[in-house]
Amino acid sequence: MADLRVNFLGVEFKNPVLASSGEPTFSLRNMQRVIENGAGGLVVKTLTDSESMKRLSAQTRWRFLDEKHQVCQGAIPRLFTMYGRTGLQDEATEVWLKEIEQAREMGDKEGCVVIGSIASTEVPGWVKLARMTEETGVRMMELNFGCPHSSQIEKTKTGMLVGQDKELASDIVKAITQNVSIPIIVKLTPQVADAVEIAEAVKKAGASAVTVMNRFVGFSVDVEKAEPYLYGSAGVGGPWVKPLSLRWVYQIYRDLGIPISGSNGAYDAQDVAEFMMAGATVVQMCSVIMAEGYGWIAKTIRELNDFLDRKGYKTAGEIVGIVAKKALTYAVMEEFPKEKAEVDQDLCNLCEKCVETCFYNVLKVEDGRLVVDECRGCGICTCVCPEGAIFLRGG
Ligand SMILES: Cc1cc2nc3c(=O)[nH]c(=O)nc-3n(C[C@H](O)[C@H](O)[C@H](O)COP(=O)(O)O)c2cc1C
Repeated sequence: MADLRVNFLGVEFKNPVLASSGEPTFSLRNMQRVIENGAGGLVVKTLTDSESMKRLSAQTRWRFLDEKHQVCQGAIPRLFTMYGRTGLQDEATEVWLKEIEQAREMGDKEGCVVIGSIASTEVPGWVKLARMTEETGVRMMELNFGCPHSSQIEKTKTGMLVGQDKELASDIVKAITQNVSIPIIVKLTPQVADAVEIAEAVKKAGASAVTVMNRFVGFSVDVEKAEPYLYGSAGVGGPWVKPLSLRWVYQIYRDLGIPISGSNGAYDAQDVAEFMMAGATVVQMCSVIMAEGYGWIAKTIRELNDFLDRKGYKTAGEIVGIVAKKALTYAVMEEFPKEKAEVDQDLCNLCEKCVETCFYNVLKVEDGRLVVDECRGCGICTCVCPEGAIFLRGG
């Protein structure tokens, strides 16, 4: 049995699997269900002082889409798309703060770290929400600089528009860190050219960690009805975005060394391990809990333990960043010896699938054999061959 405990911002988490800020943590009852299912932590649904972001929660709309981007009914595939929009917490501030405090007490008893989450529209508002959240006794707090919806309905910058503006983001972080003493985690948006730049700015401003990251904005077409799904653009995500998130996890880990909470694309224990190997210490889940229910958290934790045991890792902490450290630059890769495709003629059935998809035109059938000419070693043929007859040699 591997030791699943991880240390994030000086706090021990009993395991690295967290429920993200969102509908799975939208109420005390929801948070209780996260805690009961053994999560190492949870991030509360974002507390806001924005009336329009509260109102948007009454308009909440979600659809799981399948690989063809058609609405799922019953069976939700592993690589689902979650498409939709919602606002932030719409309970009265005092009510929500009370519930956060109750969840925090429950979490303290069960060893689940309850993390605050806030979003405002002006610097003084951010500070006020941060102070109120700190009073609930939470040990750390996320700043939601990644909400994909707020730009549509707010006149001042909030959500991802803050996450796109490093000066404003830094000003908010500075103001908050001068006024509260618990660690501040900035939740980034993927809707930027360079997430490392924003992470660096908020780190300099005093953030202790970053959550990488919130969802994208998308537009999905119902081709049969010739209409947009859900009337217009919306937040989009799902397990298929994982490599896009991991790219920023690994770069931020490598370039800044700031602690990272992973989010956006984790479906199961394998994904949790991938986020960790790329550099995240803890990993959040949201959409998959909405697709599969709270029991999925317990299953993920069990399967993470199985994975660590199978691979001989003694602790969850030891896998953090191990793959990020191995990532090479294109310049280094240029020095590598070339690989070349080779064919096992006994397995090849001469279907010519590889010939059709060799875009460097170096494969051909000659005298009843598949032959390889000046190969660049790109590897496409090894993927398309239905017989497993082509492999790469060298490199
Ligand atoms: C229904 C829903 C509500 C969300 N609400 C919030 C929120 O209030 N605050 C926040 O920071 N992120 C919110 N998010 C973003 C999630 O916390 C998470 O970052 C995102 O869904 C990507 O993770 P996933 O791939 O595990 O779903 C929400 C996401 C969904 C799907």
